[in-house]
Amino acid sequence: MAGESVKPGLERVLVLEVARVTEAAAIAAARLRGRGAEKAADKAAVDAMRAELAKLKIRGTVVIGEGEMDEAPMLYIGEEVGAGEGPEVDIAVDPLEGTTMCAKTAPNALAVLAISERGGLLHAPDMYMNKIAIGPGYAPGLVDLDASPAENLNALAKAKGVPISEITACILDRARHAELIAAVREAGAAVQLIPDGDIAGVIWTTDPDETGIDIYLGSGGAPEGVLAAAALRCIGGQMQGRLLPADDEQRARVKKMGIEDVNRKFTMEEMASADVIFSATGVTDGSLLDGVRFRGDFAETETVVMRSRTGTVRRVKTTFRDIGTRFIG
Ligand code: FBP
Repeated sequence: MAGESVKPGLERVLVLEVARVTEAAAIAAARLRGRGAEKAADKAAVDAMRAELAKLKIRGTVVIGEGEMDEAPMLYIGEEVGAGEGPEVDIAVDPLEGTTMCAKTAPNALAVLAISERGGLLHAPDMYMNKIAIGPGYAPGLVDLDASPAENLNALAKAKGVPISEITACILDRARHAELIAAVREAGAAVQLIPDGDIAGVIWTTDPDETGIDIYLGSGGAPEGVLAAAALRCIGGQMQGRLLPADDEQRARVKKMGIEDVNRKFTMEEMASADVIFSATGVTDGSLLDGVRFRGDFAETETVVMRSRTGTVRRVKTTFRDIGTRFIG
């Protein structure tokens, strides 16, 4: 339209392009649902994602990927992806978030990707990150990683205008969280334990009326933390993360990624600092997304794709025809 200003940042056409990438990964992984084969399903998702990324007119660098170059043959950190023409972008991928859930056909396995302007995503090494997240509509700084669970839960309950007994925290069901879980219950709030999948855990905080989850607490993968921050940046909400290097070798890896202060607390805006597009496609059915449906030679997928600059959130239902051997890595 004449006179319409073109906003800087990522090209909006990339919104649909990145949806294609997670759709392909989800279909490939879904063919291996329920087979008890975590690695094979992950590999299928990786291969499909990489093949789709190669078609995109981008000059992409993987900043969150399947591991470092020496441990991952594909989609490793630093790998150049895309057709080699177009904008320079950074890419964070989790081709199969919830490998165990896919292997068991348990709910909430996803294929996930975020893409940002160059330099817009934290380069987080593959280690644990301590995380806290709440949805939109609260005063900045309402909760803090350095406050106690009771302080955070009380602040949240007060801001929401409900007794603390009506607050629910989502936490990964892990032995390392025993103290945290006890502290949340001691404070009077409820806990929803999830077996895996903390990207969805963080996203659920953005719609507590629907999900029943008000806050995400605890440690999970740092790559998943950055991807969750990218999603929250688009939908709205607050998140903080702090890397948890377990030993000197991991501390050295943090520094190698350019993070000088290994104890630094990152805000959502620091983990996803520029225009970012986030896409997730369901592999198995879940409360965020339906999983892939195979109907004869058709496949149907459900994807949520969103962009931080506009805050637009799209849900895309796609039917693929004649899928035959397409999306097999
Ligand atoms: P995978 O898909 O790699 O199995 O990750 C699933 C997941 O639950 C993540 O969502 C989470 O961040 C991480 O694992 C937690 O790690 P751990 O299982 O070691 O507690």
